[in-house]
Amino acid sequence: MQMQLDINGRKIAVDAPADMPLLWVLRDQLGMTGTKFGCGMAQCGACTVHLDGQPVRACQTPVESAVGAKIATIEGVNDKIAAAIRASWVKLDVPQCGYCQSGQIMSAVALLRENQKPSDEDIDAAMQGNLCRCATYQRIRAAIHDAAKSLA
Ligand code: FES
Ligand code: FES
Repeated sequence: MQMQLDINGRKIAVDAPADMPLLWVLRDQLGMTGTKFGCGMAQCGACTVHLDGQPVRACQTPVESAVGAKIATIEGVNDKIAAAIRASWVKLDVPQCGYCQSGQIMSAVALLRENQKPSDEDIDAAMQGNLCRCATYQRIRAAIHDAAKSLA
């Protein structure tokens, strides 16, 4: 099926089965490998992208359902909030192996866009679907607070 996707502000034509996961299209067809494959079952958050600003699991999002939406991936989130998140991630040395971190950052950016001053509970609720094998959770939480402070 021929489709036109809006990815990171660019219109991109793809030819894929309607039910192919968006993650497959991003990684295998378009070579956008910043978005990771972890579980393939919407259980880990490694594949998190934004659809119209909302975090979704690309491994369980049929590509057809993303037609007409603004898709943002880790390669394309470049606003003030994303810059603050990235800076705090670096400052606090958040990643360990790094595998989960694209998804963590996408969820953190979505959180700070909705809530400029999240509490620990808000952070835990927003980030609970993003697993980290290296257990960087404390640094993630601290970095979100740090980014929020830098934006205030
Ligand atoms: S790869 Fe999509 S949630 Fe794990
Ligand atoms: S940094 Fe290793 S899985 Fe999260």
